[in-house]
Amino acid sequence: MKLLNGKELSNTIKQELTLEVQEMTKRGERVPHLAAVLVGDNPASESYVRSKVRSCQQVGFESTLIRRHADITEEELLEIIADLNSNRDIDGFIVQLPLPKHIDENNVTLAIDPKKDVDGFHPVNFGKMAQGLPAFLPATPFGIVTMLDRYGIETSGKECVVVGRSNIVGTPMSILLSRKAKVGNCTVTLTHSRTKDLRAHCLKADIIIAAIGIPNFITGDMIKEGAVVVDVGINRVDDTSKKRGYRLVGDVDFDQAAERAGYLTPVPGGVGPMTVVSLLMNTLRANREALYE
Ligand code: GUN
Repeated sequence: MKLLNGKELSNTIKQELTLEVQEMTKRGERVPHLAAVLVGDNPASESYVRSKVRSCQQVGFESTLIRRHADITEEELLEIIADLNSNRDIDGFIVQLPLPKHIDENNVTLAIDPKKDVDGFHPVNFGKMAQGLPAFLPATPFGIVTMLDRYGIETSGKECVVVGRSNIVGTPMSILLSRKAKVGNCTVTLTHSRTKDLRAHCLKADIIIAAIGIPNFITGDMIKEGAVVVDVGINRVDDTSKKRGYRLVGDVDFDQAAERAGYLTPVPGGVGPMTVVSLLMNTLRANREALYE
């Protein structure tokens, strides 16, 4: 089994981005600027946003973190978004999900200017992606596609099973892998909670993308010998032996999968760092496109 080392690959891409920022600075251009809006104190969201801001600093991007209490109203949040939309210093921004229950995430996503939607969640970007037009791709699927590309994994004609149909990962992943593109041309099966005999589907897969949010859901007996297994899950499970009281496990039983898979992503250090670096790549792109407006 070969490990798909997202940590290492994301560091390589960060070095490339750093060089690009240095070139921009030499030319006297404004460096990319990402803003992140974090509402409430969900510990996982805090950790993701911290990692996004830290990564901006590592490559020389500007970053702005906007924090608000969980009791912010939807109107107040929409005002913040309107300000970010019109702020010419900011190339792209994200509103970290999930949001508190009283805020409608669809309204928030729709309020973001598609030109600054570096998460690729706005229906304009989602629709363009589905039609194969240039668009901001959602960060996690973009990161996975980049990883498959850089590891030279052939996808054309392969059977791919995506487990989980979320708007953020499963559904866009299924679209990207079935597109006519260098990483694409798969025959994709999108599976979900109502799928019958998931094991039989998975056993046929050359590529499994596990994005269901259930710890160790994909077991060794669901994996075809030599398959590429991409684990999107980042689940916290209680572990009193750890100082912080939990450990992170994926949606795939790593030890079992390691016995069967040809390629496998670890958790942590697999898809997670690729997601963050994809957000940086989208922000660079937003900055470049703003140059020509
Ligand atoms: N919550 C989980 N993943 C993501 C992501 O990629 N972007 C945002 N904004 N929120 C998330």
